Amino acid sequence: MSRYAEIYQQSLNDPEVFWGTVAKGLHWYEHWDKVLDESAKPSPRWFSGGMFNTCYNALDRHVEAGNGDRLALIYGSPVTEQKRTYSYSELRDTVARLAGVIASHGVGKGDRVIIYMPMIPEAAIAMLACARIGAIHSVVFGGFAAKELATRIDDCQPKMILSASCGIEPSRLVAYKPLLDEAIDIARHKPTTCIIKQRTQLAAELQDGRDFDWEGSLSQADPVDCVPVEATDPLYILYTSGTTGQPKGVVRDNGGHAAALLWSMKNIYNVEAGDVYWAASDVGWVVGHSYIVYGPLLAGCTTVIYEGKPVGTPDPGAFWRMISEYKVKVLFTAPTAFRAIKKEDPQGAYMSKYDIGCMDALFLAGERCDPDTLHWAETMLDKPVVDHWWQTETGWAIAANPMGIEPLPIKAGSPTVSMVGYDVRVLDDQGVEKPAGEMGDIVIKQPLPPACLPTLWNNEQRFVDSYLSAHPGYYLTGDAGYKDEDGYLWIMSRTDDVINVAGHRLSTGQMEEVLAGHADVAECAVIGVSDTLKGQLPLGFVVLKSGVERSADELAAELVKRVREQIGPVAAFKHIAIVKRLPKTRSGKILRGTMVKIADGQEWKMPATIDDPAILDEISSSL
Ligand code: COA
Ligand code: AMP
Repeated sequence: MSRYAEIYQQSLNDPEVFWGTVAKGLHWYEHWDKVLDESAKPSPRWFSGGMFNTCYNALDRHVEAGNGDRLALIYGSPVTEQKRTYSYSELRDTVARLAGVIASHGVGKGDRVIIYMPMIPEAAIAMLACARIGAIHSVVFGGFAAKELATRIDDCQPKMILSASCGIEPSRLVAYKPLLDEAIDIARHKPTTCIIKQRTQLAAELQDGRDFDWEGSLSQADPVDCVPVEATDPLYILYTSGTTGQPKGVVRDNGGHAAALLWSMKNIYNVEAGDVYWAASDVGWVVGHSYIVYGPLLAGCTTVIYEGKPVGTPDPGAFWRMISEYKVKVLFTAPTAFRAIKKEDPQGAYMSKYDIGCMDALFLAGERCDPDTLHWAETMLDKPVVDHWWQTETGWAIAANPMGIEPLPIKAGSPTVSMVGYDVRVLDDQGVEKPAGEMGDIVIKQPLPPACLPTLWNNEQRFVDSYLSAHPGYYLTGDAGYKDEDGYLWIMSRTDDVINVAGHRLSTGQMEEVLAGHADVAECAVIGVSDTLKGQLPLGFVVLKSGVERSADELAAELVKRVREQIGPVAAFKHIAIVKRLPKTRSGKILRGTMVKIADGQEWKMPATIDDPAILDEISSSL
């Protein structure tokens, strides 16, 4: 049996011993009563009875062990031409003072705080400061519009919002404060306090009594100590796209989350204390939570906050410059970033300008990694390129190549094998396991390992309906695929209306709700079509109300603007086809799958249940 197989089996056979041993690598104020409480509802809980603080484990623990001078965080910002570093002591002290600011406004254990920030160190500091006092943070990605922010404000009802005056995209400054003000206007719930980091590129107007200047507040604050919380208390809520306009508030706990991330740093990524680990993502996504902030710091590594893009800031050599300058050992990003670099620097001319010998491996996730991109990256880097598969819901990899245990042979297109604690199965509609090589629903047998979501914020019923009801005893991932003869997983597509655009998870159902709200639209359908750069792009089909006679270009522009204003630029919604009718089954279900095949230029069969076959020709010609 391989070393990986042995460890994996141990984790399934005796999860209590396995995770109990991992958790000994962390600091506990009080030992847990049970490693795994299977009686908890709606899902089993990890380390119940244990008292814990994630910020203490990420920062203070290292300082108190004598490693305060070690580099904790590097900020590299090609868009502002700035660099800054924080040692573990400096980061702990700044976090403790911001925690003092937050607490001084009456925010404490269990209160929610929204963080709406660009990629600056203050975003990570804000998350850690909340964790320090047991407040539950909810980070909202900067590319979302005010309405999306308002939806999250109403759902998690924060006492406070931490934000900045602006973000910087290559083509424009993103004024955050007007978006924040608009969101608070729209929301029914009103936070009492906002703390705003003023950036030199754009100053924000502060509202008397509600808004406070970040630096001014920090200069007057007293540092506060970590507050012990239950291991099972929420550390954060992170909203992710589901099938409707209402995003799902994924809840993450403290103790189990820290244990799983700590295990993953050594065993999956093969990094240790003192190594520089860079996840080129955004704190607004789960990758940013787990692998820009918590994972690397829990492991005592140096993490990198990069405010820039893989290309255009200023060129496709940006990643290699960062890697050589900061001696990055592991880079983690989305395949789309590599497709962008490949497009602009196919021969690797920019790469060859830098010495990237310090780098051991590249990890990719967030979307399926097409074999072409994987092979190109392998050839250019001459290093292992590791695809791994996970979701906001799980918080860490479900399947990966465990580089710190033993590198397994790489099969392009597969994220390799199940990680510890994940008993992954492939089932048919009836819940029967599929033989190797055959596609089905990918599910995980309960209990899910530590860090995976115990519920959805404010909506236990939706948690049960979305994830636990389709196949009793199993968690439904929403992905379809298969396992091969060697136990490798192949993740091929989503089984719901979620699409993946540039590694960003988006809901077509949500875009349909926005289009359907336009006065001239009778019916619509949004599908994800293949795109060589972003993986998928949304494409909207719109049927107009009878009697509406409008210029197609004018209407399309209005609809594009509407999605940008109501969901945000991150939706990358730019393509609309105005059609006379939508193809449906005789029972009225829109044939989205067939529309995707037509739009992608793939072979397709006339569905037996189609109401009127002529409509598919109309769809083809509208494209
Ligand atoms: N704040 C405000 N706007 C943002 C934003 C942010 N944090 N992030 C993206 N946007 C905007 C972009 O400016 C763009 O706006 P535009 O339509 O005016 O050009 C829009 O949202 C779409 O962004 P994106 O899909 O990211 O496209 P892009 O053209 O800006 O960049 C890539 C393309 C491939 C370079 C970029 O997507 C990338 O680096 N991806 C890495 C993947 C990643 O980080 N995934 C996260 C999970 S690992
Ligand atoms: P998110 O919750 O934003 O991380 O998106 C999770 C979804 O992205 C998964 O359910 C998959 O559909 C897709 N995904 C993420 N990583 C991979 C991968 N390595 N291979 C295939 N699909 C992936």
